Amino acid sequence: MIPVLAIDGPSGSGKGAVGMAVAERLGWHYLDSGAVYRALGLAASWAQLACDDESRLCALAGELDLRFVREAGAAEPQVYVNGRECGVALRGPEAADAASRVAALPGVRQALLDRQRAARRPPGLVADGRDMGSHVFPDAFLKVFLTASPEVRAERRFNQLKTKGFGVTLPRLIQEIRERDERDANRAVAPLKPAQGAVVLDSSAIGLQDVIDRVLAMVSRSS
Ligand code: C5P
Repeated sequence: MIPVLAIDGPSGSGKGAVGMAVAERLGWHYLDSGAVYRALGLAASWAQLACDDESRLCALAGELDLRFVREAGAAEPQVYVNGRECGVALRGPEAADAASRVAALPGVRQALLDRQRAARRPPGLVADGRDMGSHVFPDAFLKVFLTASPEVRAERRFNQLKTKGFGVTLPRLIQEIRERDERDANRAVAPLKPAQGAVVLDSSAIGLQDVIDRVLAMVSRSS
């Protein structure tokens, strides 16, 4: 059985940075499932589909083509959604908002399930998202639910987005994060909440390296 480490949590909890670093240390693959939902959100807005048009969105999800191409020496990979280079747009607040709207539709989640499960390849996978431990990889050997206060998460997102050149303000971001958390936590299917058996880790007052070390220690204890 190929081992999966599931890292779930809300936006700005640090799961992306932690997941990538842990995957690199272990030499495992890394799945950014949020990017899949963001890509679908962008593709839907390009196709001018309403975020509740479930049958069309399911069809779009079924044929979604998401590719990360890392050129030699580049810090960040280029991202292609359905053959179109989308630059930093995938990381922006509009893609996040569209992602969380399309992600609330059960048919869309189902249509994206096999694609996410296909990321489970030897020697192992670190999967980051909202429902990795609860739905996509319920047999993960270790489930971590990473969280932090809304203020800390908004500040982290603010710094990330500013670095990428997005014009955002902190109060607006706090508001957007609250709305997205609310939608993610209250949807009917795969709501944002710790999976059964998950270790909940609050990173509000812990530095990134410390969180990475704690997760790596949990992995050694569980293997
Ligand atoms: O993690 P990220 O902020 O990139 O995710 C964007 C949105 O995609 C989330 O707000 C959530 O609605 C959705 N998502 C999800 N399930 C996942 C990953 C992301 O519903 N496993």
